[in-house]
Amino acid sequence: MKDQRSNCFSGSPSVNPFFFFVVAAAFAYVLIVYDCHPALVVTGVTKSEPSCDLFRGNWVRNESYPLYNASRCPFAEQGFNCLANGRNDTDYMKYQWKPEECDVPRFDPKEALEGLRGKRVVFVGDSLSRTQWESFICMLITGVDDQKSVYEINRNGITRQIRFLGVRFASFDLQVDFYRSVFLVMPGSRPRGAPKRVTWTLRLDEIDDINKKWIDSDVLVFNSGHWWCHEKLSRAGLYFNNSMQLGMPIPSAFRRGLETWASWVDANVNKTRTRVFFRTFESTHWSGVGGRSCEITLLPSKEMGGRDKSFVTDTVLDVLEKMKTRVIPLRVTPMGAYRSDGHAGRWSYEPAVPDCTHWCLPGVPEAWNEILFSFILSKTKTS
Ligand SMILES: *[C@@H]1O[C@H](CO)[C@@H](O)[C@H](O)[C@H]1NC(C)=O
Ligand SMILES: *[C@@H]1O[C@H](CO)[C@@H](O)[C@H](O)[C@H]1NC(C)=O
Ligand SMILES: *[C@@H]1O[C@H](CO)[C@@H](O)[C@H](O)[C@H]1NC(C)=O
Ligand SMILES: *[C@@H]1O[C@H](CO)[C@@H](O)[C@H](O)[C@H]1NC(C)=O
Ligand SMILES: *[C@@H]1O[C@H](CO)[C@@H](O)[C@H](O)[C@H]1NC(C)=O
Repeated sequence: MKDQRSNCFSGSPSVNPFFFFVVAAAFAYVLIVYDCHPALVVTGVTKSEPSCDLFRGNWVRNESYPLYNASRCPFAEQGFNCLANGRNDTDYMKYQWKPEECDVPRFDPKEALEGLRGKRVVFVGDSLSRTQWESFICMLITGVDDQKSVYEINRNGITRQIRFLGVRFASFDLQVDFYRSVFLVMPGSRPRGAPKRVTWTLRLDEIDDINKKWIDSDVLVFNSGHWWCHEKLSRAGLYFNNSMQLGMPIPSAFRRGLETWASWVDANVNKTRTRVFFRTFESTHWSGVGGRSCEITLLPSKEMGGRDKSFVTDTVLDVLEKMKTRVIPLRVTPMGAYRSDGHAGRWSYEPAVPDCTHWCLPGVPEAWNEILFSFILSKTKTS
């Protein structure tokens, strides 16, 4: 029998070709910048398929990176600041993502801050979402003259369990929030009469109850995936339509949960105001027996080694395609697959607990954010 743990760490080997369709009108600026095809008519709706796929490309060394120093950014958590934790090689910070047929626009902090003036950006998901949130803030903060004007609104420090963090850029009336919701759907306590092995439940048909805090936003960036694995779910009773479904395969449970999230987006998000993104599975680099070893390389690997595939990514792309709301997939899985050099490894919280899931900051997450900024700022310019 296939070890389910492998779903958690390295993904399962099925691929779904995905076509990155977009609404032509909203995308006019991007069409120009990326030299894309004219609009196509697909199933009665006017959509277009950009000829430049931002997510297909490779990593090139560029001495102008990294974009910030984590030791000078109060919002980069200690466990991701690899240099401060003793990492002594720095090549991993010097790679830029280069799409095959175009360039990702260079991040300009002043332009980004102006473009986001008066806005609210919300990240929702697991710790990988927190990493992207930290990277996003650290990138922006390099454009702020008075660092004291940037603060966490409740004066909270960044911890791994905290459910909400909100960073305000006072001079720009900008807020960048993080909500921890690792499943996006609702976890709960052990129901009466549940089998003994069940210690908690996951309601696959109910969106996380903090969802109301997400709605009033201009940009919403979601992820989920790393908790949908056997180790995390083995003691959960999965609930769907008010009945407990024991033994439901994890990919089916993930799909149910994601469909719940998709219906919530379609019913609640203001399509005129809010741009919605979903990041696909962030590749991990566990290896060895049971996926327990973590070897960090000095340079990116030349091959993706199958790490570009994951049932999480396949499901995300499939569910997004069927939604009424246009949600832009941030397809980071193949990009990350090359980056065996980018993880926190032994330079995280505990040298004895190596980490081949999370990424060093600065490092790979800035590439996700440069792409994210290119989408966000293009909208700001056209409307
Ligand atoms: C980052 O900033 C810290 C503290 O100011 C400094 O000691 C360190 O040399 C800087 N690192 C790099 C790579 O510039
Ligand atoms: C860098 O760190 C590694 C251990 O993490 C050590 O083996 C190596 O000697 C160090 N290199 C330098 C130049 O300090
Ligand atoms: C490095 O990145 C900058 C900003 O994106 C770009 O202008 C420059 O051409 C890149 N250099 C190389 C050698 O690719
Ligand atoms: C769950 O309930 C919804 C609506 O109440 C229904 O459309 C759906 O078919 C049900 N699914 C299952 C597996 O019973
Ligand atoms: C949606 O957002 C637009 C633009 O901000 C606003 O004018 C409109 O009133 C909002 N609609 C709803 C239903 O809140």
